[in-house]
Amino acid sequence: MSHLIAPSVLSANFANLQSDIEMINTSAADWFHVDVMDGVFVPNISFGFPVIKALKKLAKKPLDVHLMIVDPDKYTQAFKEVGADILTLHIEACNHLHRSIQNIKNCGMKAGVAINPHTNISLLHDVITDIDLVCVMSVNPGFGGQKFIENTYDKVKSLKQLIVAKNSNALIEIDGGVDLTNYKKLISCGANVLVAGNTVFSAQKPIEMISQLKTV
Ligand code: DX5
Ligand code: ZN
Repeated sequence: MSHLIAPSVLSANFANLQSDIEMINTSAADWFHVDVMDGVFVPNISFGFPVIKALKKLAKKPLDVHLMIVDPDKYTQAFKEVGADILTLHIEACNHLHRSIQNIKNCGMKAGVAINPHTNISLLHDVITDIDLVCVMSVNPGFGGQKFIENTYDKVKSLKQLIVAKNSNALIEIDGGVDLTNYKKLISCGANVLVAGNTVFSAQKPIEMISQLKTV
């Protein structure tokens, strides 16, 4: 499978979201990456259900919803109802991760687990065959436009080994600071999905930037 590109809506123009959604629809992008922040798990607040519902009406590609919130179980069903196709929660926000993953799958969504830069991939050992995606944070979550953390390459390689060893189908997604200087190396280390916010939306020609990120 060739790699996927998921532009992060967090960097879109909220005063004209429709135009940016249509741009992603037309582009070579594969998913919409949708960052939900609660001001508790991360030091920022983004957007919630009404915005995602509006986005879903226009989006012609799957919604990859990344929850940076405490107590994500409380809202699993609600995210399904507003149109999430993939729901990713943070391992650091879950006391009963296995149950949280099952809840997502029982609601009919694909289940993802995100790990912060300080979290060791060994913590995924006993759930790796239950999940569809691991979101490796390559910045500390909370903001777009941050600098890529170089340790991510080694982390992706170890994660890839774990996935192969356990015969898991989980995709490896990289989130934060992805740009033209690092995307190829990330793919060669084993990444399957690249999130890109600032790199896409601050580009002169976002559609061409997405096509470039799709090129290996
Ligand atoms: C960070 C978010 C990211 C962010 C990526 O907390 O999870 O998805 O939007 O943005 P860039 O690509 O600008 O680092
Ligand atoms: Zn994200």
